[in-house]
Amino acid sequence: MKIVFATNNQHKLSEVRATLGEGYEVVTLREVGITEDIPETGATLDENASIKARYVYERTGLNCFADDTGLEVEALGGAPGVHSARYATEGHDFAANNRKLLSELSGVENRRARFRTVISLIRDGVEQQVEGIVDGVIATVESGCEGFGYDPLFIPEGCEVTFAEMTADQKNAISHRGRAVAELVKLLKAE
Ligand code: IMP
Repeated sequence: MKIVFATNNQHKLSEVRATLGEGYEVVTLREVGITEDIPETGATLDENASIKARYVYERTGLNCFADDTGLEVEALGGAPGVHSARYATEGHDFAANNRKLLSELSGVENRRARFRTVISLIRDGVEQQVEGIVDGVIATVESGCEGFGYDPLFIPEGCEVTFAEMTADQKNAISHRGRAVAELVKLLKAE
């Protein structure tokens, strides 16, 4: 099945392709001719996932899905949450976001956090949503250079290393996106 993933992020694309496996031809926005940034004007992850999926469906008529992810830090009242990409600056600057997170949590004992991914699937015009969550803690220093975003600071529950110290397969097996995509696969296979 050909399905559009509303992203141009190569990290996400390879994570999702690995979880979906054979049988799905996952194509990116660029590959279906959508080169502009899709406005993410929603107030929640659910709204943004839906806005992005509808945008693609309206323009291509193809089955598609879109994800939106946020890092929700307990001591910060759920921030950065829906603003995770632009936490420190407007420019999706991962290093600046990590510096800001460390500084906001400086001296804070409660380091509990979770990643949450919401995926909106539109298949034959019908929209459905699934989510994936991974609980963990925010480290006091960055470690590792795999992955992207907040990975060098996020230690998943039950682990001793950050996402950025894991292989892609190890991360996929337990990550928010891996879990959300596993739910997506269930939806796709339940005809
Ligand atoms: P998006 O909505 O999936 O683009 O995610 C928003 C922001 O959350 C990204 O710009 C990253 O900073 C962060 N993020 C999303 N997924 C991950 C992940 O798997 N690891 C680390 N950071 C992530």
